[in-house]
Amino acid sequence: MIETTVSRFEFEQLGKTCSLVVGAGAVDGLSWLLADPEPPTQILVVHDSHVPAEFIARIQNHCRPHASHMAVESSEQAKTLQTVDAIWHWMAGARFDRHSAIIAVGGGIVSDVAGFAAATYNRGVRFAVIPTTLLSMVDAAIGGKTGINLRLPDGSLAKNLVGSVWVPEAIVADVTALHSLPDRHLRSGLAECIKHALVADHTFAEWIITNRAAILGRDPEILSELVQRSAHVKLNVVVEDPLEHGPRMALNMGHTFAHAIESRHSDRYTHGEAVGIGLVAATAAAVESGLAQPSMLARVRGWLKDVGLPGSLEGANPDVAALTAAMSTDKKRKGGALRLILPREAGGAEFVHGPSLKVVAAGWHAVA
Ligand SMILES: NC(=O)c1ccc[n+]([C@@H]2O[C@H](COP(=O)([O-])OP(=O)(O)OC[C@H]3O[C@@H](n4cnc5c(N)ncnc54)[C@H](O)[C@@H]3O)[C@@H](O)[C@H]2O)c1
Repeated sequence: MIETTVSRFEFEQLGKTCSLVVGAGAVDGLSWLLADPEPPTQILVVHDSHVPAEFIARIQNHCRPHASHMAVESSEQAKTLQTVDAIWHWMAGARFDRHSAIIAVGGGIVSDVAGFAAATYNRGVRFAVIPTTLLSMVDAAIGGKTGINLRLPDGSLAKNLVGSVWVPEAIVADVTALHSLPDRHLRSGLAECIKHALVADHTFAEWIITNRAAILGRDPEILSELVQRSAHVKLNVVVEDPLEHGPRMALNMGHTFAHAIESRHSDRYTHGEAVGIGLVAATAAAVESGLAQPSMLARVRGWLKDVGLPGSLEGANPDVAALTAAMSTDKKRKGGALRLILPREAGGAEFVHGPSLKVVAAGWHAVA
């Protein structure tokens, strides 16, 4: 039998505690988690329509007698105020009070939308996440960033432009949920794990490569260790800086490039794939800035290739000028200047405010 581990994190700045539960069968501990300090008055399970019905039924069983459920579509186009509005109206119709709870069951799209509804309904209700993608287990479900996309007048979608920080009281990462997750999305989650390795410990990336067959084979013990190690990298950073005034920015490594890729090629790449390509671009920019050796660029490319992730925009017919322009709408800008988060040779991140055009170009040319 595989052990389920429980860790508790104190967000002192926000006066909140978050429990992380990881393991095969972790959802079976849901009822006692929710009972602390007392059970919610009512529960709405907001779930991804692709998560198998048996998994949702198992969760509902643990939320009795007060749970209802609502399926939402997990597309960036549906990650909008309209979906939040539907959740708000559902809760108002069922007379949810401020002691009620939302449990998000799904990937990052569902936890972002449902989390924003939880943060705003009745000025904030209880919130827990049961992530069902690897990416959400190690990243999206963690740290309380919630939000929606905004359709701009020119028709483009501004990702995560509206949102809030609403830390979940529990994140229940049951790795059995990953059995039904398509391979492509499992691999996408590995991009965020590799990012965590670059931020905290390069040997973690070597461990991923060594164990890649077991990971892709959904070995529950290896998946539990993967999620445990990767989720802890993020949690250890976000508890100290939940509102992203400083150290938390390290977790945006590669994301300025990735968001530009997503804004131009969202039909071609998943978020995780864009992050993986963004990490290559960020490493190339780090080499140009003297923060890393060329051999590190080769290593990062090799890690992505070994887990079956794209390391470039090959075949996407990229327009480097348009991609560079798309970086200017990134939320990580400060005072009109671009900010890049680049990996250092020895580990950790370097924040580069107002990088030169040469550095940005080196990043794009490595992947275009
Ligand atoms: N809030 C944060 O801190 C944060 C961090 C990273 C990413 N994000 C956001 O997360 C989103 C990406 O999240 P994601 O990669 O989890 O993608 P996702 O939520 O789009 O899920 C990926 C796909 O997998 C399907 N799916 C989910 N779980 C499944 C399961 N168990 N079985 C079968 N199919 C399943 C979904 O229906 C979807 O088609 C983006 O919108 C991104 O902006 C947020």
